[in-house]
Amino acid sequence: MSDIAKGSATLTLEGSNRAAELPMLTGTLGPAVVDIRRLYNDLGIFTYDPGYGGTASCESKITYIDGDEGVLLYRGYPIEQLAEHSSFLEVAYLLLNGDLPTRAEHAEFERGIIRHTMLHEQLRSFFNGFRRDAHPMAVLCGVVGALSAFYHDSLDINNPEHRRISAFRLIAKVPTIAAWAYKYSIGQPFMYPRNDMSFAENFLYMMNAVPAEPFKGSPILTQAMDRILILHADHEQNASTSTVRLAGSTGANPFACIAAGIASLWGPAHGGANEAVLKMLEEIGHVDRIPEFIARVKDKNSNVRLMGFGHRVYKNYDPRAKIMQRTCHEVLGELGIKDDPLLDLAVELERIALSDEYFISKKLYPNVDFYSGIILKAMGFPTSMFTVLFAVARTVGWISQWKEMIEDPLQRIGRPRQLYTGAPRRDYVPASARD
Ligand code: CMC
Repeated sequence: MSDIAKGSATLTLEGSNRAAELPMLTGTLGPAVVDIRRLYNDLGIFTYDPGYGGTASCESKITYIDGDEGVLLYRGYPIEQLAEHSSFLEVAYLLLNGDLPTRAEHAEFERGIIRHTMLHEQLRSFFNGFRRDAHPMAVLCGVVGALSAFYHDSLDINNPEHRRISAFRLIAKVPTIAAWAYKYSIGQPFMYPRNDMSFAENFLYMMNAVPAEPFKGSPILTQAMDRILILHADHEQNASTSTVRLAGSTGANPFACIAAGIASLWGPAHGGANEAVLKMLEEIGHVDRIPEFIARVKDKNSNVRLMGFGHRVYKNYDPRAKIMQRTCHEVLGELGIKDDPLLDLAVELERIALSDEYFISKKLYPNVDFYSGIILKAMGFPTSMFTVLFAVARTVGWISQWKEMIEDPLQRIGRPRQLYTGAPRRDYVPASARD
């Protein structure tokens, strides 16, 4: 638990002589928090914070974000350094274990993950139960949920070895499920994982290879994939991670918790935004139509948002967006795409938005999803797979946060309270008396 700060906050109920002295807790970085755990006992009141904008739901040592400065650290390491120098599996080790691995630890970790890339053969038949035109997020959610029906030998959440194996299984198998969801949708044979390849290369292989032809990967695209995975690996207590933690707080098994996280990620305000950005760019169609689109975004009654812009925490440039923008140019260069109309449109849209008073005053900047869709489309991913890819990467963050929570001795079931505004107590009226 964090140190108790020297100060405390006093909350006095106006009109009464009742007050509560609330301890302040400080972390290593970021604002101090007021500990309100005893508030209900002391004063008989709850706090009200829909959307949890001002609430720390847990203590965590994994990821730190400074939204005003545009800083993102995994276990203290800046995202820019990890994206430049690390690899996805090294980052996975870091997030799960707290420190970067030695070479021997890395090799052992990699071997451990690789051993679990295959799916139970019976899981193949699950895919046939879905319609061919099902969204791959629906398939991913369903099949990941089904993993607990196949791997009951690692479901004891109180057993550290079970937790370790479940984490390995999830990190290793989610890419296979994701790629098979895609193959199923296009009617191609499932490609079994290749354990002689890196994590990113194997994923691209399972997505793009066919049994009839040799597979030719590209080191630049593999590196771009690896970087995209690193950038999406964790992001502290966002909606899907909080979903995983809340589900996990009940003692539910990790496969069920990650399936819940996948469902939460799917929404367009969260992981579904990368898909929504591309649809938006296609809908705008031409730079000449940007002013008209921006006017719609600014119109309070339109409900139109500039997708890929804005963030609950970042009130500055999302550091991941900058790396994405650079990666985007590299990928298009490697693929020999000189003029991509969607990229031109995105660059112009960003330029106009960043100089528009509406976006400036609300501190709305590009987020990680603004450029990721363009990269993924150029790499050959269909739009419906964008959020699936996000889930492949975020599985590492989810399982690290789940593990941290289970290992926290102070962990309790997550159970928020409410401000009830419904009918007061009333007596049942028989139907005959209601006309
Ligand atoms: N376009 C236009 N206006 C916006 C946008 C946007 N993208 N985002 C926020 N605003 C406005 C909003 O209308 C509100 O205005 P007002 O104060 O006049 O009512 C103000 O900015 C604050 O917005 P909010 O909805 O209260 O902010 P939030 O913190 O609840 O929402 C968000 C954060 C990410 C859901 C939101 O910015 C958004 O919907 N962005 C577009 C979707 C998107 O790109 N999501 C990906 C987020 S990053 C990856 C991830 O987390 O998965």
